[in-house]
Amino acid sequence: MSNDKKLKRNEKDTKDDMIHLVDNLNRDEDLKFNRRAFLKSAVGASLTIGLATLPFSVLALNSRDEKSNRVEIAKLKDVPKDSSINFNYPTDDEPAILVHTKNGELKAYNNKCTHLQCPVFYEKEESVLLCPCHRGFFSVDNGQPLAGPPQRELPMIELEVEAGTIYAVGRKIRHGEE
Ligand code: FES
Repeated sequence: MSNDKKLKRNEKDTKDDMIHLVDNLNRDEDLKFNRRAFLKSAVGASLTIGLATLPFSVLALNSRDEKSNRVEIAKLKDVPKDSSINFNYPTDDEPAILVHTKNGELKAYNNKCTHLQCPVFYEKEESVLLCPCHRGFFSVDNGQPLAGPPQRELPMIELEVEAGTIYAVGRKIRHGEE
């Protein structure tokens, strides 16, 4: 083999080596970049999931009993059987309804319809809570939706009667069929 040919082959080998080296460098950088990108997207995804589930965490906290607030609603004698009165609980901005049922039970709920927040009324004829906006019906016994668009129960207000006075003493946002 001539010196000339050897040189050309060596030259070619060197060129190939350079290409591989650059290739490898790029691959290394790619790997670094991919690792960084992966970490970034993993952190991003965790943050996104955390933020997305925040309302549910808040709901979960809300679904715990709120026992802090004892508020007088009315004298029992002023709320005869098969009637209702409105009050606010737990704050002055949250309207609620107290129903003294036909069979003598006291039930109270926040009275914003869980569909689109219209006020809910006690409908004596059928002994139900009625939202007239889109004809949503809720059970007086447990606040669960019975018919119409609402899908969630009305928040239930816990009551106590002491010396002839009815008090609101807590609230359960999610309370199942209690
Ligand atoms: S707002 Fe009550 S049914 Fe729509």
